[in-house]
Amino acid sequence: MNKTPLIAPSLLSADFCNLERDIRLLNRSNCDWYHLDVMDGVFVPNISFGFPVMEAMARVATKPLDVHLMIVEPEKFVPQVKALGAHVMNVHQEATTHLHRLLGQIRREGMLSGVTLNPSTSLTTIEDILEEADVVMLMSVNPGFAGQRFIPHTIEKVRRLREMIDRRNLNTLIEVDGGVSRANAAQLVEAGADVLVAGSAVFKALDPLQEINILKEC
Ligand code: DX5
Ligand code: ZN
Repeated sequence: MNKTPLIAPSLLSADFCNLERDIRLLNRSNCDWYHLDVMDGVFVPNISFGFPVMEAMARVATKPLDVHLMIVEPEKFVPQVKALGAHVMNVHQEATTHLHRLLGQIRREGMLSGVTLNPSTSLTTIEDILEEADVVMLMSVNPGFAGQRFIPHTIEKVRRLREMIDRRNLNTLIEVDGGVSRANAAQLVEAGADVLVAGSAVFKALDPLQEINILKEC
């Protein structure tokens, strides 16, 4: 029996004309975090939403916010993400030069420090900062769009990251983002994932609340 993962539905797949309705639906669900995908059209080839929209979401949300910044120079926005009341600030390893400093700044602001790796980025790039990260998020799609196909190689990458973390006796959480569904959730958790992000799997389901339960009980 797998341990129970935290489930973080991605609001990128919500109905933007009915954001309040969709967030209130999640408030009633067994999900754990709300995953907010910020895109700048530079780091990724798409633009999603920014702080004014997230502030509105935060007013309705009753669970912790997991902010995933797919933007260049994320270090500029630590105070603004803090002001949102975010629980996790996830920045891409590929998007910032002084990752060690940035993860420290995020922690000092009282948030969990998250570092995210694209599918093509090796785990060796975070070997020297693993102690500074509360969360390591592995992208299982190339970031920029919801509804993409899961890259299977991620399962083995989760396993290697789990070994890295356990070898050092750290409590770092492993989060996986992109194409996560009931078809791969169990394998990801078995490999060592703690947090599963799911956009389309939740919002395209006939019964999103039930789908969240299925992912949790994988
Ligand atoms: C991709 C985003 C993901 C995405 C997940 O760039 O970071 O969080 O919204 O959506 P699904 O689960 O549909 O792949
Ligand atoms: Zn994301």
